[in-house]
Amino acid sequence: MTFTLSTALPGDGSPVSPLLDRAFGPGSQESRLVEVLAEQYPAFDPGLSLLAERDGEAVAYALFLPRTIRLRGADVPLAACGPVATVPEHQGSGAGTFVMEAALAALAERGLVGSLLLGHPSYYPRFGYGPAFDLQLVRAPERLLGEAPGEEGDTAAWRGIEGHDLPALVALHWRAHAAGNGAERRSAAAMDWASLAEGSHTLVWTESGADAPSGSANGGSVGDGGPRAYLRFRVRESVQITECGARDPRGVSAILAFTARLVREHARPQAEFRIPFAHAVSRELFRRGCTFESNNFGGAAMLQIGDWPGLFRHTDSSWAAVLAGAGHRSISLEIDGATHSLALVDGELRLGRKRDNLRHLVVPDGWAPGLITGHRCAADLIFDETILSRSQLDPEGLRLLPALFPKSQPMWTHSTVYEVADG
Ligand SMILES: CC(C)(COP(=O)(O)OP(=O)(O)OC[C@H]1O[C@@H](n2cnc3c(N)ncnc32)[C@H](O)[C@@H]1OP(=O)(O)O)[C@@H](O)C(=O)NCCC(=O)NCCS
Repeated sequence: MTFTLSTALPGDGSPVSPLLDRAFGPGSQESRLVEVLAEQYPAFDPGLSLLAERDGEAVAYALFLPRTIRLRGADVPLAACGPVATVPEHQGSGAGTFVMEAALAALAERGLVGSLLLGHPSYYPRFGYGPAFDLQLVRAPERLLGEAPGEEGDTAAWRGIEGHDLPALVALHWRAHAAGNGAERRSAAAMDWASLAEGSHTLVWTESGADAPSGSANGGSVGDGGPRAYLRFRVRESVQITECGARDPRGVSAILAFTARLVREHARPQAEFRIPFAHAVSRELFRRGCTFESNNFGGAAMLQIGDWPGLFRHTDSSWAAVLAGAGHRSISLEIDGATHSLALVDGELRLGRKRDNLRHLVVPDGWAPGLITGHRCAADLIFDETILSRSQLDPEGLRLLPALFPKSQPMWTHSTVYEVADG
């Protein structure tokens, strides 16, 4: 089947929105999502908004959005993929594959080392995607949230976000999330903050009064009426806090006190915080005895790395630190049939293509993305006889694995704008 490739923006006369509406069906919001992204996202790249045509008819579409994602303590340039769609009568004819492969080739040209998406776990592995992120949830009954009744904090100091809050919100978000694998750097564009889904609200807390601390030690405006904490919530069967961030312990208390008020006012049994465990609010909830839950997202939160040397370069400190602490300072990894050697030379990571004859790990298909984020870890490798028999690992090499691939709780904290298509 022959397809031709072109770039396309949504808008009047463009086939993009009608194509998405047909592929995703009545009531779907994917076309609106693409319109918002094209209009508002500062790093929107029209060259990554791709259309496949057949005999002059637009049959498939894929959008990739450059984003910076925290992996192994470093900022990595990746792209968020979605939506991807083929019109119903052309599904199964290779159009989706054509447009995906074209887009992945275009990422490399732009220095984007790979991409992430939420999608069908049985469709995307053919393009190199593997499960890489978890879903984390903290459940908090009202009794563990607020102060004693009547002492629920300065809940009146919460208000809606305003345009001038955005730079401070970017700093607050990063302060709360930067420790986690999968944290996404936010922009100061409104689409990264405004609640675009029905029933979703974003509020900021601007502490006021004589006891409010002043000064601006760590970014964001402080002591001048600027936000010191924020939260986004929606009321479903429970009160869902879909994101939050605070500058300091007072901000954390303000978030919990306001959540307690929401739970009371909406007569819900509990609040659900959909936030990473490596977050100041999660830590406080843990201290208070809340229940933590995580699952693997059904394998749907995936990562694909197209440029492995690029990924190793961006995350070089994490590999160099492990090799520096080891007696033998090199290892090679076989990923999708290609060998990548990592060696420490004069304190710096040196990359190559040669197999290490003492320490060579053959990574099973589809596992490498999850090993990078900590979704999988060394224990998954060490307890698998097949992997060990295909690899060549001396005792030193075996000892390296837990430090190279530690377990973490990676969570892709994607932009608010994707709520548009959440329903
Ligand atoms: C998913 C989608 C983009 C695939 O595009 P496509 O053009 O039909 O795919 P291709 O023709 O390139 O590939 C066909 C293969 O994909 C598989 N496939 C299609 N949809 C799939 C799905 N939802 N889950 C798993 N596999 C799927 C087919 O079984 C076929 O497999 P095979 O090659 O082993 O026979 C398309 O079916 C679609 O637009 N669906 C509706 C919108 C949607 O769900 N988008 C994805 C959001 S994550």
